[in-house]
Amino acid sequence: MARVGVVGGTGPHGIGMALRLVIAGEEVVIGSRSLERAETAVRRIRERILPRVPPDRVRAADNATAARTCDVVVLAVPYTALPALLDELRPSLAGKVVIDVVNPLIADDGLFRVAPVAEGSASGWIQAHAPEARVVGCFKNLSAHDLWRIDRAMHGDVLVCSDFPEAIGYVSSLIELMPLLRAVDAGPLANAAHVEHITALLLNLNRRYRAQSSIQIVGL
Ligand SMILES: NC(=O)c1ccc[n+]([C@@H]2O[C@H](COP(=O)([O-])OP(=O)(O)OC[C@H]3O[C@@H](n4cnc5c(N)ncnc54)[C@H](OP(=O)(O)O)[C@@H]3O)[C@@H](O)[C@H]2O)c1
Repeated sequence: MARVGVVGGTGPHGIGMALRLVIAGEEVVIGSRSLERAETAVRRIRERILPRVPPDRVRAADNATAARTCDVVVLAVPYTALPALLDELRPSLAGKVVIDVVNPLIADDGLFRVAPVAEGSASGWIQAHAPEARVVGCFKNLSAHDLWRIDRAMHGDVLVCSDFPEAIGYVSSLIELMPLLRAVDAGPLANAAHVEHITALLLNLNRRYRAQSSIQIVGL
């Protein structure tokens, strides 16, 4: 069991990730810029997991404490929040597995597209700006809605990219604790760019079909 800090854990994706990790048996610290908002998120998760999971598996903190006191850190904030956040958290991320779920998306004329990122992807940006962290890009194609709906099984694949193969293995083992989700080793972090483009496509499909789409790779 690891202690996982979720920075930005009050947003839909962060709270969904936290919920799934708690149910999978991990100890989770929800981080926020506001302790009050983190406590509200913790209350929501506790209400959701009872009676199946002990409520002491999840607690609240500010982002800096969540990153500093945990073995694994999830970054679940908007892409535009990363520069200031990394300035603050960089020392706490050194040597740790950092799970990056960020999609650098822009909506233009009703269509989503990926914002240009010199480092190729949000994951590449984080790795370049926190070089001592072991960044793993994943959970980028799964909707927050599906993470929160624990009454329904989550079908689909989670593409996992990193330049650290053992970190891919570790995060894949966390994903496999979530029923029906499959982790797919998507290779080096350079591939995170393609994964982020898939999210833009899925969101455009969601609009067109009024759906919550996700992906499944066949033929592996
Ligand atoms: N939503 C989805 O379905 C989904 C799916 C896949 C991937 N993602 C990715 O996951 C990330 C989070 O998504 P989300 O929908 O949960 O986003 P969000 O609601 O916009 O933001 C998440 C949290 O980030 C914190 N935050 C916002 N602006 C910040 C800033 N300038 N500095 C520091 N913290 C800030 C806020 O927490 P506090 O105010 O409490 O600090 C907020 O609750 C995004 O990068 C998104 O692309 C989302």
